[in-house]
Amino acid sequence: MKTNKTPLRNDWVYGAFLLALSLFLQTISACNQGPPPNSRQAQALAGKAIFENQCISCHGLNEVEPTVDTLSTPAPDLTRIMARRPKAKEFPIVEIARIIDGRREVKAHGPRTMPVWGEVYTQEGLDKSEILGRKGELVAYLMSIQDWDY
Ligand code: HEC
Repeated sequence: MKTNKTPLRNDWVYGAFLLALSLFLQTISACNQGPPPNSRQAQALAGKAIFENQCISCHGLNEVEPTVDTLSTPAPDLTRIMARRPKAKEFPIVEIARIIDGRREVKAHGPRTMPVWGEVYTQEGLDKSEILGRKGELVAYLMSIQDWDY
């Protein structure tokens, strides 16, 4: 009887070891890959990089003070987009994408303090769908930094 038991237990231990190993490997590869491409998290991550490059100088972020303080209109805190719209039930994706793009806003209301990003990106050589993608990334990031405790 004793001789039968040992191989059985070994199989079990071996199986558990393989399972743990495969879970471990899956976790490692998930860490390396980051969020799945085109997911909201991946978009927000790309948006964060753009924000830190092109937006933080005027808007600041939490403890990061804006470095540009010569604006005629001060740049609003972008963690409080929802706080400024208490009636909004969900994040105003279309409105914010339009504000960032700016072309439509400028047509309707004339010049503004913030750069017209739609034009800036066109001048950088981005085509329509690339501009749409960039706005999507910025919006996803802005959604992820909203201060929901208001
Ligand atoms: C040169 C300074 C400056 C830069 C750079 C800048 N902004 Fe702005 N932003 C402003 C100002 C000022 C306003 C207030 C509206 C106005 O006067 O144009 C504003 C308004 C906004 C709003 C509207 C917020 C609300 O609650 O209505 C959003 C969204 C926004 N900016 C996003 C961005 C993003 C995204 C970037 C980077 C791609 C960016 N801004 C870069 C100055 C700037």
